[in-house]
Amino acid sequence: MEKKNIDWASIGFGYVKTDKRFVANYKNGAWEEGGLTEDENIVLNECAGVLQYAQTCFEGLKAYTTEDGRTVCFRPDLNAKRMHDTALRLEMPPFPEDKFIEAVKAVVKANEAYVPPYGSGATLYIRPYMFGSNPVIGVKPADEYQFRIFATPVGPYFKGGAKPITITVSDFDRAAPHGTGHIKAGLNYAMSLHAIVTAHNNGFAENMYLDAATRTKVEETGGANFIFVTKDGTVVTPKSDSILPSITRRSIMHVAEHVLGLKVEHREVTFEEVKDFAECGLCGTAAVISPVGKIVYKDGEIAFPAGMEEMGPVTKKLYDTLTGIQMGRLEAPEGWIVEID
Ligand code: PLP
Ligand code: COI
Repeated sequence: MEKKNIDWASIGFGYVKTDKRFVANYKNGAWEEGGLTEDENIVLNECAGVLQYAQTCFEGLKAYTTEDGRTVCFRPDLNAKRMHDTALRLEMPPFPEDKFIEAVKAVVKANEAYVPPYGSGATLYIRPYMFGSNPVIGVKPADEYQFRIFATPVGPYFKGGAKPITITVSDFDRAAPHGTGHIKAGLNYAMSLHAIVTAHNNGFAENMYLDAATRTKVEETGGANFIFVTKDGTVVTPKSDSILPSITRRSIMHVAEHVLGLKVEHREVTFEEVKDFAECGLCGTAAVISPVGKIVYKDGEIAFPAGMEEMGPVTKKLYDTLTGIQMGRLEAPEGWIVEID
């Protein structure tokens, strides 16, 4: 497969139009088969449910070129399941999970020339999404929906790639107790935009959100879960009903325990104890594992021992193991790698 002539090493996390995308419509109570199209534009009624009441959700996963030249995706079944759960919470008709995986494969196959080569530092980001498409003026779910998937080659989410970032504790909340923080609804991201612009204007790469009820517990950032490492090498991740169940985080916890033999804890994490951790990182499809060097908050700052130049030793081990599995350098647990053929 001849690859596109793109300077893979220098692309950031942005949109690049690729050749084909998948579209399926939901009408009269059923999903149509759907198929690939070249048209990247969508024409909608002015009163479409997505435009008026933000009835939309999305997913994110990646395709990789492995060391031996195969094109693979990482755990698309978990994205299919999470989008199913999200849809139910938003009163949308779930897109069938098996068809989701087939559509992901079809989009990657049709855009294989855009899957960055092995070792380039870039990957193909795949964005499935769904929205209410018919006119809705009373506050209620739409009757018609569109499910789509596009793909775009991306580089690192944070400038500087694997260099530690500085984040801040947000004065704003991301998700309410019993709200929608645990699903991938567009509305969660809309309401985080003011907080992220504020953080960027103050010189920070991201926000740490605390739990809205007590503001004492660590939740997540706008686009990634946290992983911490204690001084004795235990990997700790925050547990909360209002954070997104990150597929990357779940995968890291599995490899930490079963491949690296580390102790792992998935539990509530108080902000008070963060200063005692040896390492901190953000994990997600876009973020991969991005090390956090420093957290600035109202009354001071926490500087992690590994400093601002490199990731800490345990974070590095987790990063190498996760990306080793994704790029085919290490054996993957059963079912994690789906080949595009
Ligand atoms: N948390 C939020 C708010 C996110 O948007 C994402 C990205 O999908 C994640 C966490 C990480 O989840 P995943 O590892 O499934 O990409
Ligand atoms: C992802 O990691 O797939 C996300 O959706 C996060 C977003 C901030 C790009």
